[in-house]
Amino acid sequence: MSQENRATFGGRIGAVLVAAGSAVGLGNIWRFPYIVGENGGGAFLLVYLCCIMLLGLPLMISEFSIGASTHKNAVGAFRELNKRWTVVGYLGVLASLLILSFYLVVAGWTAEYTLHSFLANDVVRSTSVEVQTAAFNSFITHPWKPLIYAVGFSLATHIIIVLGVQKGIERASKLLMPMLFVFLFVLACRSMMMPRGLEGLQFFLTPDFSKLTTSSVLAALGQAFFSLSIGLGTMVTYGSYFKSTTHVQGTAVRVSLLDTFVAIMAGLVIFPAVFSAGIEPGAGPSLVFITLPSIFATMPWPALWSSLFFLLLVVAALTSTISMHEAGTAYMEEEYGLSRRKAAWCVTLFVSLLCCFCSLSLGAWSWLKVCGLSLFDAFDYLTANIMLPLGGLLTCLFTGWFFERKRFESQLYPEGKIGRLYPVLRLLIRYICPIIIVILFADNLGII
Ligand code: PHE
Repeated sequence: MSQENRATFGGRIGAVLVAAGSAVGLGNIWRFPYIVGENGGGAFLLVYLCCIMLLGLPLMISEFSIGASTHKNAVGAFRELNKRWTVVGYLGVLASLLILSFYLVVAGWTAEYTLHSFLANDVVRSTSVEVQTAAFNSFITHPWKPLIYAVGFSLATHIIIVLGVQKGIERASKLLMPMLFVFLFVLACRSMMMPRGLEGLQFFLTPDFSKLTTSSVLAALGQAFFSLSIGLGTMVTYGSYFKSTTHVQGTAVRVSLLDTFVAIMAGLVIFPAVFSAGIEPGAGPSLVFITLPSIFATMPWPALWSSLFFLLLVVAALTSTISMHEAGTAYMEEEYGLSRRKAAWCVTLFVSLLCCFCSLSLGAWSWLKVCGLSLFDAFDYLTANIMLPLGGLLTCLFTGWFFERKRFESQLYPEGKIGRLYPVLRLLIRYICPIIIVILFADNLGII
């Protein structure tokens, strides 16, 4: 696609909503609570918030600027700015596709929950954790049902991608995101009123630093990057569709705030209910799928609440899968000169195959393990704890030391007046972020 007729996102609000659509998703509502649960609660939350502010935000600004100044896919953007750094683009596209592979599996679970809530089967009305857990496990280990949902989700993403950037992505984001916010708010109020709800609140909000290890700090960093969709070129790709009038820093601040707000709301919904139902907060990826139905079951019209909520989750997941798919599609389209349709098919077929393997590794093919983890968990760990922090580190080093300063500044301050906080941003990008990430890596690899 030539640069002149490349698509753009409409106006300022359009850019915020679309980028927030990528950021807000299962990472906030499914992954965040279970990672917080596994890492001991309040202290982890504090570290997570520091990661968002000190590392996530500067990195998002960098990624948007790289995309907006080149109007190219992640690989093309790095190549144009400095050939030697093209590898960061490749790493990003690969990470997007790997994340998409296991993300589609979980997205498929949400679609199944929407459907079975809608059909109001007995499980929806059960307040018993055992019943919910058994229903969840029997679904995700089923040999073919979860595959159908995951591949169906992949095809739905494909269709929106082929419809085009503006029409498909923007429309979907604009409509349903605000609904999700309201819904989470209502559920948080309900959950906090449940018996023993305050204990859950305490677990989530009171820091206990004795529970914090350096590997949980790396997990917080990985979760922050995962949740903000950074460290892998997705936001470079989205930045490339910005209009020249889009305010890069303002957009990044708004997206980070929205994303963090949704994650905290999800914590406020999940933890009181977890304690109320007597579920182990470190229960892992099943946490949300067991906890949420147990909240709905205590409310009037459980099937209605449950189907609406999971439907919104499906939409939140869809706006995220679109962004990961787009990173791959834009790469195939622009680097290999394929039509959009063909490029999208390449990505869809590849991730559909991988997502089937990920799903099967949880049940019928439980022998499919990498380093003792199921393929599903291995992809999750590899991307969030290694590839995203590494991608983030390289992007910071690139922006801080190799991105032509004038070009970077002209993206941030198109009117030419340098902002007051710019020196702080530069300090973070050049020194603080890379040093923190290197220390965390070195510590986790046992080097220090
Ligand atoms: N940020 C998305 C979420 O929280 C997931 C995602 C990761 C999307 C990486 C794009 C790239 O659900």
